[in-house]
Amino acid sequence: MCGIVGYIGRKEAYPILIKGLQRLEYRGYDSAGLALISEQSQLNVYKAKGKVADLEAYCSEKDISGYVGIAHTRWATHGEPSSVNAHPHFSASGRLALIHNGIIENYQTLKDKLSKRGIAFRSATDTEVLVQLIEYIMISNNLELLEAVQVALHQVIGAYAIAILDRNHPDTIICARQSSPLVVGLGSDGSFYLASDASPIAEYTDQVVYLNDGDIAVLQEGETLHVVNIDNVTQHPKVKQIDVTLGQLEKGGYPYFMLKEIFEQPGCLRDCMRGRINADRDKITLSAVIDFREKLVSARRIIIVGCGTSWHAGLIGKQLFESLCRIPVEVEYASEFRYREPVIFPDDVVIAISQSGETADTLAAIELARKSGAFVFGICNAIGASIPRQTSTGVYIHVGPEIGVASTKAFTGQVTVLSMLALTLANERHTISEEMYKEMVVELTQIPDKMEQALKTNEQIERLAPIFTYAKNCLYLGRGYNYPVALEGALKLKEISYIHAEGYPAAEMKHGPIALIDSEMPVFVIATRDKLYEKVISNIQEVRARGGRVTALVTEGDERITQIADHVIELPDTLECFQPLMVSIPLQLLAYHIAVCKGKDVDRPRNLAKSVTVE
Ligand code: M6R
Repeated sequence: MCGIVGYIGRKEAYPILIKGLQRLEYRGYDSAGLALISEQSQLNVYKAKGKVADLEAYCSEKDISGYVGIAHTRWATHGEPSSVNAHPHFSASGRLALIHNGIIENYQTLKDKLSKRGIAFRSATDTEVLVQLIEYIMISNNLELLEAVQVALHQVIGAYAIAILDRNHPDTIICARQSSPLVVGLGSDGSFYLASDASPIAEYTDQVVYLNDGDIAVLQEGETLHVVNIDNVTQHPKVKQIDVTLGQLEKGGYPYFMLKEIFEQPGCLRDCMRGRINADRDKITLSAVIDFREKLVSARRIIIVGCGTSWHAGLIGKQLFESLCRIPVEVEYASEFRYREPVIFPDDVVIAISQSGETADTLAAIELARKSGAFVFGICNAIGASIPRQTSTGVYIHVGPEIGVASTKAFTGQVTVLSMLALTLANERHTISEEMYKEMVVELTQIPDKMEQALKTNEQIERLAPIFTYAKNCLYLGRGYNYPVALEGALKLKEISYIHAEGYPAAEMKHGPIALIDSEMPVFVIATRDKLYEKVISNIQEVRARGGRVTALVTEGDERITQIADHVIELPDTLECFQPLMVSIPLQLLAYHIAVCKGKDVDRPRNLAKSVTVE
């Protein structure tokens, strides 16, 4: 949801900014822009509608000199994607340039006030009001930029990560955050890097400061990082080490990040379990559970909150906690939960699931749960993100940076962490036998190898994909643990191929959706061998009887479904509760290959952004 990059130092800023924007392009890609202070102290701003490549083309004959700059890739909220609405935005005099990620909720009130004082606005964005307000305060009160920023931010309601350049102070970048992420990289040569996440910084330094809400940072080459709050109280940020490798940020020979991330999953899950499951494969140790054993083991109820794919992982978590730990679980869309006045007890455990750790609705749900006195546990991927910092404790999924907008490895990482957590609590609560616990731990450690087998379906799926490109609608059916996987399969198809798809519990089909079935409707049925296997066969027959075209995901060696389905995709057998980890693979591959056949930009689907930092 918009990406911010900045640099101040002794190197040419432009290549650093462009490369940084490319790394952050998954956050938004409807327009991009940058501002540079040239060697002649000119403030040059260049903007273009479209992708970062369009901005690069636009800049090819411009003055791109300078050692100080800020840049932005946009996901539009207020104002259509256009070069006028792209960031940076100028102040009225042209002295300041500002980039912003977030939403200024009271922008209209502020805009009206400034307009009455004669300030003309050029764009339709909420962002422009910030830069105009800062300059207005600075000039009318004869303040320095930092002071003006502090006064202005007192008047602003909403979420922001901002960076500002001042033509009159070419040696300084000022940046600030409130509810939108911002990371400052500390170069060993006195330079500073700035970004919405650590990925644009990783190749220059591993020393970073994650700014906190309310922080305002002053970046000046060769000086120590100066951080204050809006009341000018000095803050003492902690310097952290990032462990992102460059290989994790590149496509590594794959045509798209999504395909790379699908194929990375066996390794990712090994990383996720590493150090948590012992060598004898009979014990799971999660430090968060050791530290907060009592709270977790005695939970009266678990409430899981998340959005999109993370919410689907939560639905699988519900089944794991209920069946293994006998703890009642509710799973809530964070966006609904936060406004629903939910009943939350102090002995509830709220589990917030998020890949990015920055999803605005999930953060708001956490805040609500904390205020209600519940214990909040985070399951997150992005190290140092807001969610791990705002939860009482939690577990990282450790699957490495996920760059494809369609979530893949984060989903299976989340399900793996939920499985380890449920097994740990079940063992502590004695709701499963020691024998069953050990058997399940062993099986979980075998999942990565079985996933490697499942990935061998790639060629078969690539061959099948063209059959489905004509479809206007698709149905995904599953039951039990596989119902959330049906929802997730449908979401993957929708977001990258733009084919309408519905996930449904297979038995619910006859209560409505069966009316949709005809020979034009591809139906993907998850029919692995589990306790509902016979029932799912009946559901397949119901689809067949109405002319529906069935592609079934089955356990290897299945002969019965092979007789009745149009296509079968065979997968290694595993325990019922771990089947989502197996079945997700072919569903991700199906969505991927269908989208590629349709010529879609898989990593940058229209209208979407990877990290949803606005409501
Ligand atoms: O970063 P989060 O896990 O909090 O993100 C939640 C959703 O925005 C995300 O899962 C989204 O649905 C993905 N694009 C799905 O592929």
